[in-house]
This record gives sequence, structure tokens and C-alpha cells, in this order.
Amino acid sequence: MIEDPVLAQEWLPVCLSAELKEQLLKVTVAGEYVVVFRSEGGVHALKDVCVHRGAPLSLGKRKGDCIVCPYHGWEYDRGGQCVKIPQLDPARVIPPKAHTQAFGCEERYGLVWVRLLRSDGRFPIYPEVESGALRLHATMGPYGVKAAAPRLIENFLDVSHLAFLHEGYLGAPEHPYISDHDVHWIDGRGVSDDILIMQPNGDGRGREVQYRYVYEILSPVCVKFTKTDTETGDVVSIQLCVQPNEERRSAAYFLVTSNFDVDTQAFVSYQELIFKQDVEVLENQKPEELPLDLQLEMHLRSDRISIAYRSYLKERGVRWGVIYG
Ligand code: FES
Ligand code: CO
Repeated sequence: MIEDPVLAQEWLPVCLSAELKEQLLKVTVAGEYVVVFRSEGGVHALKDVCVHRGAPLSLGKRKGDCIVCPYHGWEYDRGGQCVKIPQLDPARVIPPKAHTQAFGCEERYGLVWVRLLRSDGRFPIYPEVESGALRLHATMGPYGVKAAAPRLIENFLDVSHLAFLHEGYLGAPEHPYISDHDVHWIDGRGVSDDILIMQPNGDGRGREVQYRYVYEILSPVCVKFTKTDTETGDVVSIQLCVQPNEERRSAAYFLVTSNFDVDTQAFVSYQELIFKQDVEVLENQKPEELPLDLQLEMHLRSDRISIAYRSYLKERGVRWGVIYG
């Protein structure tokens, strides 16, 4: 059952590419049970329910480009069409109704992505990685978080928590002020003005530097920031892609990039340390769903980006993990 037709039209990450090998993998995305698998023809995703008696196909076996249901052996091709029913008289044709739903499935940036409903929604491309301006060092995740996807996204876009929750790392309470900025909508993407932030240890290499941050909203569950060291021009950019599992359970993936060499393991550990600080708040925020009615919480000018994100979810009609008030 498609629980949120807006989210269902987006490309949603479902697992790391590296996790998907020979096996059939059961994933939950936006409340939907999906089986993903890899064959010579690429990656594929089907609804994880056999139309015969509802057995999960993910318990079955892969056979070439097909999945064999574990219960009575019906075989489905990657388009979801049943191509073999062992109990059927071979003289009879397989009814076209013997068909399970096939979903869009793509592999990119070390992730497998699924789109539940066909749409003209665009893939969250990372242009700087495509052009080679930034190098993708790691695809981090999945980090399971007991929080609604929009809460995770808003946290990532929240500039003013850096000086407090991430004190000593991404900010300092002596520099709480956030330079004024707006969000502009360019070709469906929300892009913030530059924001200057003083960070004692912004990239884990231990230097106090002022960074110029730009935040981007790419989809309801995919956002990124690009920060430039104002002294050296070094750039770090991280894209957060959230897999909404259940309404209050999500998995986060981070695409970590930069234009300079990094010790990948140290860089990843540093990001994990930061995210752990976020998770502690995220799993305890009230209400659990993100309130879209601006009357429900208090806002400052420094909350501009999260306000823009909330308005965007409202305009798009997202229902997942939000409260309209
Ligand atoms: Fe799948 Fe019967 S339930 S073949
Ligand atoms: Co944070």
C-alpha cells in the first residue's frame, strides 16, 4: 500500500550497493515491503508479496533475472510478471493478472535507490561528483534512527544548533549568531545564500576556520551542504539521503565528498561522532512528527532554512512524518 503518494514518487535509498550481493534483500521503504535483487541485468525491485498466497518473495530464490516464490514455486521476472506456475497445465497460458508490482530501481553513489510510483521526479544527482569537482570518499550508512524522516532532514538543515549541540567541533557558543540568509528556489531545488560559520574543528583536522556554507534542498528526503574554508578554499560537501522505513523509523545515508585528500576512515569516524550527537536529540524530539503549521513552534530568522523546508513539504503535500496542525 502506498502510504504517501508524494514520497513514493521520489527516488529513495534502500540499501548500500555493497550490501546487495547474490541474495534477495527485503527492505522497507515508506511503509512498503520491497524485495531488491541484483542480476546480470542490474538491480531490480519488486513488491515483496506473491500474488498467489501472499508469501514474501524475499524468502525465495533468485534464478537468473527471476525470483522463485518460496511457497509454491511461482516465478516472477524483473518486471514483476509471473513467467512460470509449476502447478499450471503447460497447455494453458499464464494469466496476465499473475503479476506483482515492479518498482523503479537504480544504483548510484554506492546506494541502491527505489521509486515506488512512476513520475517525472528527477534523480537526486550530485553534480559536483558527476563533474569530478568533488570526490566521493564514502557512502556512510545505514544509520537506523528512531525518528521521522523529516526530523532527520530538518536537523541537517538546522544551522543554529552547530554552536551548541556540536560545541567544540562545528561551532562555539561564543559565536552563536547566524548571518542573515534566505532560501531561493531554482529549478525545483532550494538553495540558501552563503552563511558564515566559525568552526573550531570543522573537518576533523583540528583547525579553527570560518566556513562559507550553502545548503540545498533536493527532495523531501534528500539534502546537502557545501562548506568552503574561507582561508584555503578547501571544500567539504555532504549529502544526506534518508530512507523512510516506518513513519517514526528511518535510516540515514551520507555521501561524503571533498576537493582534497582525506583519511577516509578518520573522516567517516568524525562524521559519525557528530551524527551521534544529533541522534540523541532526534530520537527524543516532541512531537515525533515535524509540525508544518508554523504556529505550533517558535521560529527565529536563523531558522530560515528549516522554515523553507517545512513550507516546501506543505506545498508538495507530503504526509509522511509530518503534522499539518
Ligand atoms: Fe507464492 Fe504460492 S504464495 S507461489
Ligand atoms: Co547536527
